[in-house]
Amino acid sequence: MGLFSYDMKSMDDLFVHTLRDIYYAEKRILKALPKMIDKATDPELQAAFRSHLVETEGHVQRVEEVFRMHGVEAKTVTCRAIDGIITEAEEVIGEVEDPEVLDAALAASAQAVEHYEMTRYGTLVAWARRLGRADCAAVLQLNLDEEKKADEKLTRIAESKLNIRAAE
Ligand SMILES: [Fe+2]
Ligand SMILES: [Fe+2]
Repeated sequence: MGLFSYDMKSMDDLFVHTLRDIYYAEKRILKALPKMIDKATDPELQAAFRSHLVETEGHVQRVEEVFRMHGVEAKTVTCRAIDGIITEAEEVIGEVEDPEVLDAALAASAQAVEHYEMTRYGTLVAWARRLGRADCAAVLQLNLDEEKKADEKLTRIAESKLNIRAAE
């Protein structure tokens, strides 16, 4: 799908394309999270990453369910945005030596990922409704809600201790 190839003819095509984008992103996150668990030292941060890894497995399954409901093939399209966010996270992680600063960096990187997912699911929910697929919107909303909760949890952990310790 190149620039100006006009492969997306309709809103429905755009919806399916974006679903394939988030499908790619979720699978990419599934591979990145175990590395983040390994690198984290704060037990609460590790636990947050672990529980979100389990949730992320569920996100992949829900996206597959939406593909089925919508009658299209479950496949991925490369999402340059999530590749960029994860590559940047890996670069930062590789450059931080102090474990407390590293925890703050890990939380921030994870929040960048959550925010990307939130923007995608927010859009997908709105488009699914507009396309008359309230059923698909309801499934996608479950993922959106979990991304938001994961993000809020990370804010709480970061602000209540990680950032404080990192700055000391
Ligand atoms: Fe997710
Ligand atoms: Fe997430």
